[in-house]
Amino acid sequence: MKTRRLGPFEVSAIGLGCMNLSHAYGEPPSEEQSQRVLLTALDLGVTLIDTAALYGFGANETLVGRVLKPHRNKIVLCSKGGMAGVEFPDGMKRVIDGRPQTLRRNCEDSLRRLQTDCIDLYYLHRWDKSVPIEDSVGALADLVAAGKIRSIGLSEVSASTLRRAHAVHPIAAVQSEYSLWTRNPEIAVLKACQELGVGFVAFSPLGRAFLADGLPDVGALTPKDIRRGMPRFTPEHYSANLQLLPAYRNVAQRAQCTPAQLALAWVLAQGDHIIALPGTTQIAHLQEDMAAADVQVSEGLLREAASLIHSGTVHGSRYNPASQVEVDTEEF
Ligand SMILES: NC(=O)c1ccc[n+]([C@@H]2O[C@H](COP(=O)([O-])OP(=O)(O)OC[C@H]3O[C@@H](n4cnc5c(N)ncnc54)[C@H](OP(=O)(O)O)[C@@H]3O)[C@@H](O)[C@H]2O)c1
Repeated sequence: MKTRRLGPFEVSAIGLGCMNLSHAYGEPPSEEQSQRVLLTALDLGVTLIDTAALYGFGANETLVGRVLKPHRNKIVLCSKGGMAGVEFPDGMKRVIDGRPQTLRRNCEDSLRRLQTDCIDLYYLHRWDKSVPIEDSVGALADLVAAGKIRSIGLSEVSASTLRRAHAVHPIAAVQSEYSLWTRNPEIAVLKACQELGVGFVAFSPLGRAFLADGLPDVGALTPKDIRRGMPRFTPEHYSANLQLLPAYRNVAQRAQCTPAQLALAWVLAQGDHIIALPGTTQIAHLQEDMAAADVQVSEGLLREAASLIHSGTVHGSRYNPASQVEVDTEEF
């Protein structure tokens, strides 16, 4: 597996996002299957492992900690706080809270679940706009000084918020959605990362399965699947989006790779400071996705793919209004 620089680390150009082993896209896989996915990823050369306090309300960190503890020194372990499950009388709810005392508590909880004494890269999962970014990053800087985390990341932030944060403490990485069908980072944040020497981790590079030819029927999504609440996946928008795929498949065919590999190769071609972060519950998909690091696609075919699928051709926004107000990114 090819490697790239991410802040102070050298990591596999494609990392493994662990979210959907516990959360997000319907029923999660069994413990055995999740374990197989994590261990196979290591065999394939993956060294960047991404989880969060939010995923499965802690269950994902517990899984990652249990399975990867014997391999801790082979991986760059990334987690996130500032958006986590909180117990209410009517059950657990997701809460964005970037206050310093909450971040300290989130981090302690994550360290315990991950069975480690230091998290390599710890992200502020969402900027809590009721707390100055300087205060949240200041709290993370204290965690670096205390040896609890090695470096700081931010997720779904604008270029100006990144600059404010970077002035408080060097930021190692920004993690935001980026793919052929979600181009928002191209407005400003990719360039700001490059300028500041910050790595960029592209999450959902397969468009949550759309670009991987993996979701023919949105009507079949289970009630728990978070894509049900995303405008692009509503039946009227999705059927229009499906019309984009035949020509895209044809480009992949000419590039002698799969649609998923073309999507990942395109993300990696957008800059040496970019790491792709797909997620999967299936070994065959994992093998296909990780092999994309070695796929060579000509500039002409990458341009062709980009001219077919972009913000002007995709139907529906990526988030619904309630999720949209929670992010701080520049949006098309
Ligand atoms: N910072 C944030 O706010 C944030 C938000 C979302 C995600 N993330 C991170 O990014 C990671 C990846 O996100 P994601 O899961 O949305 O990414 P994604 O890779 O764009 O989408 C995953 C979906 O694609 C399918 N898939 C993967 N490879 C495939 C292949 N080769 N062929 C067909 N289908 C394929 C998966 O299904 P199968 O399981 O069937 O393969 C799954 O439904 C997460 O795990 C998490 O770590 C971060």
